[in-house]
Amino acid sequence: MAARDHHYHPKKVCNLPSSCRTSVLFFSLLSLASLFLSRSLFKSPSTTASRSPQQAKTVETNREVPDRLCDYSVGKWIYDPTVRSARYDHTCKEIYKGWNCIGSSKSNSMDIVKWRWKPNQCDLPQFDPLRFLQRYRDTNIGFIGDSLNRNMFVSLFCTLKRVSGEVRKWRPFGADRGFTFLQYNLTIAYHRTNLLARYGRWSASTNGGVLESLGYKEGYRVDVDIPEGTWAEALSFHDVLIFNTGHWWWAPSKFDPVKSPMLFFEKGLPVMPPVPPAVGLDMVLKHMISFLEGRIRPSAIIFFRTQSPRHFEGGDWYQGGSCQRLHPLLPLEVEKLFSVENNGTNVEARLVNQHLYNALNRSFLNVLDITRMTEFRADAHPSTSGGKKHDDCMHWCLPGITDTWNDLFIARLDNIKRDTQR
Ligand SMILES: *[C@@H]1O[C@H](CO)[C@@H](O)[C@H](O)[C@H]1NC(C)=O
Ligand SMILES: *[C@@H]1O[C@H](CO)[C@@H](O)[C@H](O)[C@H]1NC(C)=O
Ligand SMILES: *[C@@H]1O[C@H](CO)[C@@H](O)[C@H](O)[C@H]1NC(C)=O
Repeated sequence: MAARDHHYHPKKVCNLPSSCRTSVLFFSLLSLASLFLSRSLFKSPSTTASRSPQQAKTVETNREVPDRLCDYSVGKWIYDPTVRSARYDHTCKEIYKGWNCIGSSKSNSMDIVKWRWKPNQCDLPQFDPLRFLQRYRDTNIGFIGDSLNRNMFVSLFCTLKRVSGEVRKWRPFGADRGFTFLQYNLTIAYHRTNLLARYGRWSASTNGGVLESLGYKEGYRVDVDIPEGTWAEALSFHDVLIFNTGHWWWAPSKFDPVKSPMLFFEKGLPVMPPVPPAVGLDMVLKHMISFLEGRIRPSAIIFFRTQSPRHFEGGDWYQGGSCQRLHPLLPLEVEKLFSVENNGTNVEARLVNQHLYNALNRSFLNVLDITRMTEFRADAHPSTSGGKKHDDCMHWCLPGITDTWNDLFIARLDNIKRDTQR
C-alpha cells in the first residue's frame, strides 16, 4: 500500500529530521483513515453518537489498528452513566467564571463528561496525570492561540493540579499565564494571540499613501510576516507547542469589512491590491510556519489544532442564536449545521480548516484534529449560563470537551515520543 511506502522513506519528503517522521506517519494515517471512513460510512451511517451500551461493546473489541496508526478523529460519543466525577471539579480556580457550568448550574453540566469519545479503530483513554508529570519531567509546554486554546490549557492545568498541588505561577516569555509544577519541573503556559501575526489599529495618514488613495480611513494593520510579541520569543523556551487560530478571521464584529477592515502588510508595505481575510489567513499561516522552521528547538514537537466548532442555532451570537441541546448531535444534524454547501451560521469551522489543511498538510507540523469529534457536542457550551448578554455557544464548559482534546493531544504526543526514541 502506498501509505506503507511513505513510511519507509521519510527523509525524502522532509528537511527537519526529528519532526518529519511524525508528519510522514500522519500522512500514512490519513490514507488509512479515509479507507476506514468510507468503509464505515457504507456499513452503518446511523451508529455514530450511539447511546446503546450493546453497540458500544461490539465496537470496543473491534481494534483494527495499533494506536500509533489510529485515526482518533473518526469515532462516536458513547454515554456512560457510571462516570461519577471528572478528573477535576468546578473548584479549580483557573476556570474562567463564564466556563464554570457546574458553578453556574447549567442543567446538564454534570452530564457533559459522561459522554466518552470512542475512535472507530482504537481507544482513547483518559490520560493519567501522574504518569504524564513523571514522563514529561523538565519539559515546557506552550499553548499559543485564542481563548479556545486557553480553554484547553485550563483543562490541562486543572487535571495536573489535582495530583500535584505545588505550583509556581508566572509568565514565561510573553505568556498570558503559566504554571510550573515544582515537583516535576514541568511548565505549561498560555500565550494569547488572536491572529498569530502582529496587528494593531490603523488610521489614514494626512500625508496620504496607497491605502489612503483607495479611500481607507480606519482599520487594522496586520503584518502577515511578523509574529505577535506574546509568543515570538517563546519558541526558545518550549519543548512542545500547540497552536491555533481561526475565530478572529471570521469576526466581522471586530474586523468590520467596511468600518474597520483588516489591512494586510508584508515586508512593511500594504499588500496590493488589498486582499480579504481568508487570503490574509493563508499568508499568515505560510509565514508563521517558516518562522517556526527557523526558530524552534531541534527536538521540539509542534501541534496545530484544527478549528473549534461553534453551535449557534437560530442566528449568530448577535442575532439571538442559542445552543440549548442536552445531548450530542446526530450525524445528520452535524452535516446540516456544518456542511460548507449549507453555508449556515457555523460554517466557519470547516472553512477555517480548509485553510489550515492547505498550509499544514505539507508542513512538519502535527495536525491535532479535534473538529470532527467536537462538531457533535452542541450540548457542551456554557450557553445561557455563560453570564453574558448573549448565549455562549463558542467556548466550552469545564470540565468538558477540552479534557478530551487533551487526551488526544497526550496520546499523540506519547506516540510521537515513542517513534522518535526508536
Ligand atoms: C528544569 O527543566 C529545564 C528544561 O526545561 C532545565 O533546563 C533545568 O535545568 C531544570 N531545572 C532543574 C532544577 O532541574
Ligand atoms: C454565506 O452566507 C453569508 C451570510 O449568512 C453570505 O454573506 C455569504 O455570501 C454566503 N456565502 C456563500 C458562498 O453563499
Ligand atoms: C489535507 O488533509 C485533510 C485531512 O485528511 C484532507 O481532508 C484534505 O483534503 C487535505 N487537504 C489538502 C489541501 O491537501
